[in-house]
Amino acid sequence: NNLIVEIENKIALVTLNRPQALNALNKDLLDDLSNFFTKADNDDKIRVVILTGSGEKSFVAGADIKEFANFDGKQGEQLAAKGQENVFNKIENFNKPVIAAVNGFALGGGLELAMACHFRTASTNAKMGLPEVTLGVIPGYGGTQRLAQLVGKGRAMELIMTAGMIDAETAKNYGLVNHVVAQEELLDFTKGIASKIANNSSVAIAKAIEAINANFEDGTNGYEVEIKNFGLSFGTEDFKEGTTAFLEKRKAEFPGK
Ligand code: CAA
Repeated sequence: NNLIVEIENKIALVTLNRPQALNALNKDLLDDLSNFFTKADNDDKIRVVILTGSGEKSFVAGADIKEFANFDGKQGEQLAAKGQENVFNKIENFNKPVIAAVNGFALGGGLELAMACHFRTASTNAKMGLPEVTLGVIPGYGGTQRLAQLVGKGRAMELIMTAGMIDAETAKNYGLVNHVVAQEELLDFTKGIASKIANNSSVAIAKAIEAINANFEDGTNGYEVEIKNFGLSFGTEDFKEGTTAFLEKRKAEFPGK
């Protein structure tokens, strides 16, 4: 019940569904998300995933504060470590594109979830921020790292220190979201981008995700990953189909292998 999954035209629309708590991330919802991505990995019916929040007010209003209010340091550390491993890093390294359609508040763990996705669209009413320091904690689902990667260190420092919220247009100016559209258009607009992606080679896209992410991994040389994955692409059926279709002046029908 925490997660509504609708699959159509190879696009999985995944709606986080705890509207009574503005879709805050509790343990059950995080477990459901983790299980969804494990299953979606091997599901040929899914080529692109879109994450959004139920209702018109909120994408996700953060980690569920009621759940961790009595935690001690060790439990806090485990909450962050398990969340990062089972959900946030899993999404970032997922081999199919994951797009966040930010339809309202994306705060704390909610913005961290959107930032773990490969890119973001937003509705005009969206508000984003990392307000954790108002609770006496810091972002724990990768926010200190990914916000700085996406908007630069100075802006990340200010946003986290002030716990300020930025609107969708500012988020676009910062490079945090790629597009801003009216709320009623957000899902169709995002599905439009997803369909373009779904028509391309899923094998090549998976290799591109790995190469782009390699730039942000300690001890990994992104250029070397790119060279390796470029070479590996040549052995795929998608490569054969893509190049043959070009030479035959027709649209490629990628088998995804
Ligand atoms: N956790 C649990 N419940 C939450 C929640 C959260 N993060 N955010 C909202 N809710 C609940 C509220 O408690 C309220 O429930 P009740 O009706 O039972 O009281 C319901 O959702 C509606 O919220 P509000 O009445 O507060 O709605 P509002 O319109 O007045 O305010 C808001 C909206 C500004 C988003 C406000 O709800 C808010 O500030 N939420 C908390 C945001 C936050 O601090 N997020 C960071 C969490 S910490 C974190 O994420 C740690 C990490 O990095 C791992």
